[in-house]
Amino acid sequence: MLKWVIGNWKMNGSLKEAHDFAEGAVKKLPHVSSHVMLGIAPPFLYLSGMLGILRDTAMMVGAQTCSDRGQYGPYTGDVSASMIKDVGANFVIIGHSERRSHGETSTSIASQIACALEAGLSVVLCVGETMEERDSGLAKAVVLKQLESSLPKHAPAKTEQFFAIAYEPVWAIGTGRLPMPEELSEMTHFCRQIMKDRWQIDIPVLYGGSVKPSNVHDVLIASKASGVLVGGASLSPEDFFQLVANLP
Ligand code: 13P
Repeated sequence: MLKWVIGNWKMNGSLKEAHDFAEGAVKKLPHVSSHVMLGIAPPFLYLSGMLGILRDTAMMVGAQTCSDRGQYGPYTGDVSASMIKDVGANFVIIGHSERRSHGETSTSIASQIACALEAGLSVVLCVGETMEERDSGLAKAVVLKQLESSLPKHAPAKTEQFFAIAYEPVWAIGTGRLPMPEELSEMTHFCRQIMKDRWQIDIPVLYGGSVKPSNVHDVLIASKASGVLVGGASLSPEDFFQLVANLP
């Protein structure tokens, strides 16, 4: 079965670090099993540089968001899915909690997904509950609502476009805290089931939140997730590829 490791740099890195990561990846990629799908999502500004180095490799390069207002137009500061596709990237992370908490609504997330799919990009849709929501017994209800309010009716028709869900409990992101093994498997199973009910297909469900080289093995065994979405530990090629080497 395919395993996924996708790195999300967030607002981190520099031109030099992006270059060094890509050069490092070129050296390490020949040693990675062909059953592992790898992706990295740097800030927009570093996409082209990384793609220049990684273009003919198995490493996918993607963006961390895209405009919800179509592909072109008078939208100062926006970057459209078509532009992301145009520079050669192939996926986009949508609905990360760090963007939801800065005002992204389910309507905007639904529009971003539509724009991304229209442009031919693959999508990693992030969902996850806050600590208060979990403590109130609302984790599943929150995730269900996030999925139902933003998903298109049908799965992407083009087989070269993947659609993955990343379950990222907000309280586990960047905190070093991990859900209990049974919470992990319950939530990834829940996401997988919702998607199966809706689209009648199995799609990759990733886990994200404080995944490191030291815990990725246990996290994947416990969660039965298809892979991981990694923040801090994706910033250096050493950490990233150590994490890949430690996959179960
Ligand atoms: P950390 O791995 O730094 O906790 O971040 C997870 C994340 O938000 C990935 O999208």
